[in-house]
Amino acid sequence: TGRLRVLSGIQPTAGSFHLGNYLGAVREWVALQETHDAFYMVVDLHAITIPQDPAELRASTRLAAAQLLGAGVDPARCTLFVQSHVPEHTQLAWVMNCLTRFGEASRMTQFKDKAAKQGAEGTSVGLFTYPVLQAADILLYHANQVPVGEDQRQHVELTRDVGQRFNSLYGETLTLPDAYIPKAAAKIYDLQDPSAKMSKSATSDKGVVWLMDEPKVSAKKFRSAVTDAGTEVRYDPEAKPGVSNLLTVYSALTGISVGEIEEKFTGQLYGPLKVEVAELFADWVAPFRARVNEFLDDSAQLDAILAEGAAKDWLPLLMVDGHDLDPTMG
Ligand code: ADP
Ligand code: NA
Repeated sequence: TGRLRVLSGIQPTAGSFHLGNYLGAVREWVALQETHDAFYMVVDLHAITIPQDPAELRASTRLAAAQLLGAGVDPARCTLFVQSHVPEHTQLAWVMNCLTRFGEASRMTQFKDKAAKQGAEGTSVGLFTYPVLQAADILLYHANQVPVGEDQRQHVELTRDVGQRFNSLYGETLTLPDAYIPKAAAKIYDLQDPSAKMSKSATSDKGVVWLMDEPKVSAKKFRSAVTDAGTEVRYDPEAKPGVSNLLTVYSALTGISVGEIEEKFTGQLYGPLKVEVAELFADWVAPFRARVNEFLDDSAQLDAILAEGAAKDWLPLLMVDGHDLDPTMG
């Protein structure tokens, strides 16, 4: 098609995605399918690097797919699939594991952070080689660009390094990708602790807006967002992180610039801003939730969409290009 190829994955989480996942990632995916040859996957194999209840993981994988569809990821415009439905991910991952040095994997800061919290006995080897599976995910599809958050940049660098090593050993085969940090992606902070990013692993979810929350629950979270003792609605992430976060959400949901929103709230206190953000979110989320529930209710349709995404006859691309995944077989 002449378009650059993007590939991105999102973990199924026990509950729904949160507003940060949507405004920081999923919404960009929806935009990129118009300009790129896009591959999107629910990465259930990455999820099992930490303990999961099998039945819950199956349910959350479906919920993740339904939410992507509900948000506008369109199987007619992109390829949407579940990682474990395409066995070549784990096949190429083994080869890549053997090309990755223990030392370089040990330098991955995400692993170091997570392992430090969980201790050696609580940490799986899978968590250690997670970035290598991620490298295989990307290289398998000859992705040119990988939309990621800043925290994943190091993994894309590793992908380039092991991909390069594969190419010099076995011949030019793999496309080396670049990290792509979408300019429009918003970073959303916890409504109760605006110094921390909104995260599914927050110790309390009082400041986390889950997309599938009952609307009155999320409205209450916005109305009780932590702000500061001042009175002026002004974008200043240093001095006014809570207010700035609400302005970011407002702007992201409406496309109105932060400057214009500041102007609109001149002379008003924080209360009306919170109420209006709550209403904007409610207006966006109601049709979203309805679409997600439709996909969840029609499990045959959801299965068919995911089966088609995993089974396109040109997948995986490395096989089509005539390269066997086992490099020793030349
Ligand atoms: P979490 O941080 O809640 O564990 P993930 O790490 O699974 O979420 O992130 C999934 C995607 O959502 C990534 O692309 C990540 O960059 C994006 N993302 C996560 N949290 C936020 C946030 N608070 N603001 C913007 N984007 C986010
Ligand atoms: Na994370």
